Amino acid sequence: MKISQTASSKISLDNSVKQRFQIEHLLIPTAVVSSTAGTDVVQGLTQTSKTLPPRYFYDDRGSELFEQICELPEYYLTRTETGILQKYAHEIALKTGACELVELGSGSSTKTRILLDAYEEQHLPLRYLPIDVSGGMLENSALALLKDYPSLQVHALAGTYELALAQLQAKELASRMICFIGSTLGNLNSQECEVFFSKIKDALHVGEYFMLGVDLQKPKGILEAAYNDNQGVTAAFNLNMLDHLNRRFNGNFDTSQFEHCAFYNTTKNQIEMHLRSLKTQSVELATLNLKVSFTKGETILTEISRKFDIQVLQGELKAKGLEPVKIWTDDNQFFGLFLCQLQA
Ligand code: AVI
Repeated sequence: MKISQTASSKISLDNSVKQRFQIEHLLIPTAVVSSTAGTDVVQGLTQTSKTLPPRYFYDDRGSELFEQICELPEYYLTRTETGILQKYAHEIALKTGACELVELGSGSSTKTRILLDAYEEQHLPLRYLPIDVSGGMLENSALALLKDYPSLQVHALAGTYELALAQLQAKELASRMICFIGSTLGNLNSQECEVFFSKIKDALHVGEYFMLGVDLQKPKGILEAAYNDNQGVTAAFNLNMLDHLNRRFNGNFDTSQFEHCAFYNTTKNQIEMHLRSLKTQSVELATLNLKVSFTKGETILTEISRKFDIQVLQGELKAKGLEPVKIWTDDNQFFGLFLCQLQA
């Protein structure tokens, strides 16, 4: 199941960096990948209410568009969470003491630097375990960090959260903190969320930490603007999923015949992103041997982005044994950062 290797030989690294860097590629065996690839697409597109899994947003173009979304004036999430981290990172480091940071979906590791700075300023040892599906992104961001933090050790894990959490090796520092920031929890439905918390719990020992950043409930207008930006970046991000599927499964989605649609479902407290068919049409994904018909106005649900209530989430975490020991928010109470500790 697991193939390990040290830092890629493709990149020439100076010795001080090489000794502090390790990357492990957690691979699902090829046989499993080829027999399951695309089954989620077939399942989603053959249901009465069509859906597609949000993981298909993130090809290279999609990841680039997501980086642009994070900079948009309407998309307050990234800015607000960064502000909270900047204000409270020292308090977090003081609270946890020497602690290795495991980050799920680390991407470019931009926000992690705020935490690393705080641990470094308190002369605490630095060890970072970024987890991401993109091995290239992991290598690039790890190398940049290793150059900027001369005492940092990085052990990168290229793979899904599930694989990585199940295979975390024994910690090397006194404690460990699993970080899941950026409100990615909001992209899981409540059942998936339950399962996810159980996996976090299983990956921690009593007294270790879980840091969770989530977007909070707020007026509909603010939320809908964040997912319907004026420059159309979110629309391009959503439509790019169809281009991605075309490339991956030899498809013929015509992106000009679909439109982006995002609204806040006040009953479920979630943004729902859809792609709406502009005409009656049928689309083929040849590799999947799939032909799908759309009526004019029919939609595909591509993402939910749940918005949380602090007290409700606090209760859910506590019930799971992940006791929130401190919760920070911003002046507008737009975003919440939870520091939880696994109870006996
Ligand atoms: C990754 N995730 C937290 C983003 C969100 O806000 O739910 C994805 C996104 N979708 C549209 N804009 C951003």
